[in-house]
Amino acid sequence: MGKNEKLNVGIVGAAGRGASFRSAIEASGRARVHAVCDVKEDALEEAMERLGAQEKYSDYEQMLEESDVDAVVIGTPMQFHASQAVSALRRGLHALSEVTAGVSIEECREIVSACNASDAVYMMAENYTYMRPNVLVRALAQGGLFGDVYYAEGEYLHELKGLNEITKWRRRWQTGVNGITYCTHSLGPILQWFAPRRAVEVCCAGSGHHYEDPRGDQYENEDSCVMLCRMEGDGLVKIRVDMLSDRPHAMTNYQLQGTEGAYESARAAGETNRVWLRAVHGDPGAWHDLAELEEEHMPDLWRNPPEAALKAGHGGGDFFEVLDWLNAIFGEAPCPVGVHEAMDMTLPGLVSQLSIEQEGAWLPVPDSRTW
Ligand SMILES: NC(=O)c1ccc[n+]([C@@H]2O[C@H](COP(=O)([O-])OP(=O)(O)OC[C@H]3O[C@@H](n4cnc5c(N)ncnc54)[C@H](O)[C@@H]3O)[C@@H](O)[C@H]2O)c1
Repeated sequence: MGKNEKLNVGIVGAAGRGASFRSAIEASGRARVHAVCDVKEDALEEAMERLGAQEKYSDYEQMLEESDVDAVVIGTPMQFHASQAVSALRRGLHALSEVTAGVSIEECREIVSACNASDAVYMMAENYTYMRPNVLVRALAQGGLFGDVYYAEGEYLHELKGLNEITKWRRRWQTGVNGITYCTHSLGPILQWFAPRRAVEVCCAGSGHHYEDPRGDQYENEDSCVMLCRMEGDGLVKIRVDMLSDRPHAMTNYQLQGTEGAYESARAAGETNRVWLRAVHGDPGAWHDLAELEEEHMPDLWRNPPEAALKAGHGGGDFFEVLDWLNAIFGEAPCPVGVHEAMDMTLPGLVSQLSIEQEGAWLPVPDSRTW
């Protein structure tokens, strides 16, 4: 817990993604945005006002040194997540980090080592695990309604060639590396459905290169990369990430197969999320609307969300994500995406980048619990 009566939070990357955390922090009633930090100095004053903060910094280390913050939200580009989380943890400050946890296996080791040496709570803000259908499927899987879960697919198809030129870090860290560079949104919910099994081995292949950036350079990332994950015990997961192909976005495609049920998310607007569960629907002759199971199976807090949750965006997901981090900080519940879950979601992608270099070789995924 923090030294202040309400937790003082500092948000770094406050002029970008970091800004979206304000309402959830305030809605919790247990924390407030105290300081903002962004290297864009000309945007700081406005960010401070917009986020209701008392202080502004253009240097992250200076914020950690000088500001009375108990915790930080890290909403900077991917290549800064690990070092900024490690700096916070070393000072005993709690950290909620945007995805992915880090951009190399070495960085991931540093986060784990900093967590092992700190009492502070680290959480990765994998918000797709807080999407309403994903929460319901998790409840069904945990209740055993899919039986033995053995296959899943996740896809993140989000063309962002234009955005690469505005947020240039994406051109380096998302489309400038081959293999799966951004897998946590797809793999995160699936790992919760398979829990406690993690991916122990991955292989990766790509579809080739069909687009160039505005300078005429080929993207290092192949257009569609597919990673296969062998799961602990048994089971197979397929993850496809494509940030280059021209097509309508589809960032939340999921499928799940178990011995007693199957699930397919809606792939386009107007479709429903469909499910078949032997125990509920009998013969596997037809799909049923997932939403029909909400009344009986949705966790209570989600069925009757507090007013505060509804104010926070993503159908309450943003609120519940911050609430889980705060509950862990206040010692009331374990962190659902703590450091090892964050590693389980991040490391397979990093290993896939080695696999694709080695013609798709199956490679082991380290278990951060042994580090
Ligand atoms: N979970 C999600 O749904 C989701 C959605 C969008 C972005 N993201 C993640 O959020 C992060 C930021 O993405 P974005 O689209 O907002 O990027 P962005 O480039 O628009 O914003 C990042 C902000 O961080 C600031 N910044 C950069 N380096 C900094 C540093 N060293 N210290 C302080 N501030 C610094 C930038 O000036 C900018 O204002 C990325 O990691 C991205 O993957 C997650």
